[in-house]
Amino acid sequence: MTDIAAPDRVRIFDTTLRDGEQAPGFSMNEDAKLRMARALAELRVDVIEAGFAAASPGDFASIERIARDIHGPIICSLSRATRGDVEASARALAPAAKKRIHVFLGTSPIHRDFKLHMSRETVLEHIRSSVAHARSLADDVEFSAEDAIRTERDYLVECLSAAAAAGATTLNVPDTVGYTTPDEIFDLFQFLAQHVNRSSETIFSTHCHDDLGMAVANSLAAIRGGARQVECAVNGIGERAGNCALEDVVMALKTRADTFRVTTGVDTKRIMAASHTLAQVTNSPPPRNKSIVGANAFAHESGIHQHGMLQNPETYEIMKPEDIGLAAEGIILGKHSGRHALAARAKALGFILDGDRLDRAFTAFKTVADEIGIVDSARLLSLLSGIDSGAPERLWKLNKVDIRSPVSATAWPVARIELEHGERGRVTDIASAPGALDAAFLAVSQMMNIPARVDQLDMQYIAIDADDPAPDGQGANVLTEITLEVDGELFAGRARGRDILPCFVSAYIDAASNAEAVRNVRSRPEAIQHATPQAA
Ligand code: KIV
Ligand code: ZN
Repeated sequence: MTDIAAPDRVRIFDTTLRDGEQAPGFSMNEDAKLRMARALAELRVDVIEAGFAAASPGDFASIERIARDIHGPIICSLSRATRGDVEASARALAPAAKKRIHVFLGTSPIHRDFKLHMSRETVLEHIRSSVAHARSLADDVEFSAEDAIRTERDYLVECLSAAAAAGATTLNVPDTVGYTTPDEIFDLFQFLAQHVNRSSETIFSTHCHDDLGMAVANSLAAIRGGARQVECAVNGIGERAGNCALEDVVMALKTRADTFRVTTGVDTKRIMAASHTLAQVTNSPPPRNKSIVGANAFAHESGIHQHGMLQNPETYEIMKPEDIGLAAEGIILGKHSGRHALAARAKALGFILDGDRLDRAFTAFKTVADEIGIVDSARLLSLLSGIDSGAPERLWKLNKVDIRSPVSATAWPVARIELEHGERGRVTDIASAPGALDAAFLAVSQMMNIPARVDQLDMQYIAIDADDPAPDGQGANVLTEITLEVDGELFAGRARGRDILPCFVSAYIDAASNAEAVRNVRSRPEAIQHATPQAA
């Protein structure tokens, strides 16, 4: 890893917990922030902007806790250019081994005239006094000229020079409204490096918003123009359309090191973990097609792509999934997959498929893929286990769900579930739990003898097809997905239906059946021909 002071080293300033957290839908409580800060420290970002101390007592407490418990990165707190804000930041950051006070003030004409009602000279005075005050309380001070991109260039130079003279060690040039372009910001950073006083003693920083979808491209252009700090957020969260996505800028710098010729200190293998932690604590996963961290980013489903990938992953992959900490199978088996992909995955699971066996497996696989979309390893294992015996691929099916709701507020609902077993016929059991869904799941677990913990539940509402109304005039469907943890391993299940509750129970049965198939194969390796199965 290069020394942080090396000229080609770009500092990663993470603002997930400040700019990211202030966006609607991403607010986090103190515990969630601490968990996320831990993930960021493991990712080895250089700076964690932990919040805005003066904004609320909750923000203050979170910054203080992160300052006390998280070691490694510099911990930073945002402040307006006032004594009160700067002092609140200093107090919240007191326990940190490495701390930074971040002072910001709008510098553009529109901010000066309409938001601050300040003249150019007054803005300069506030910059001088607040930065100097921050510097008297911390050795590391950042100044941000809010809306720098729409600030007159000569005046921006004055503001940044004043901040540097007052003791700012980092000068941030935010594109607060996501307005700039790569050419423009490249030129601006080169201009600032030439004209700002003491520019050689300070680090120039870029902070881009994604309103026109150019935050990452603009941040990279700023780096080419001389910025040595990039402000970014995991999964690209932040005000409005978000901030520059950390994972994108870091992987672009790594993958195209030939072009950018700079390094970061980030342990890229921790990217997926950080993205996942954020999705969990905010309950907002990134879109499937999000670059780097989206579920489809390393997934290949089309037959032609899969064939190429099997010959050489570089045919369709510019990065290795392992480099971002993704252990998942890059090849996604679904209805577009071909025989090559099926045979390759089956082989990895210990099943050699050729000739008639491959034909039968392929036909059965396409039927399942048409029905459920993605066929993961556990489901494939279940399908392949029955390929020679002719046993039904799915032994358990839901017949009936009956929920008795309690009359008193303290009693638990009781679920009576009837399943159909391919060999044993009808099986019924009852269970009760604090929630109706949990009671139903427990009854299924008892019958299938699969103790499981629900890790994740998802539901998609599929609206009525106006051209094809159902007899009752409704016709909407739900698609449910569930992930169960069974003996430390995760198993997915899916189902589609009209009613939410039975649909979730069917998805649970689907996931538990996958777990059962894997357990059976492991306990009877002789059921597999030609090879021994690997972990599913
Ligand atoms: O977008 C912005 O200008 C900011 C500053 C406070 C750095 O978030
Ligand atoms: Zn911002």
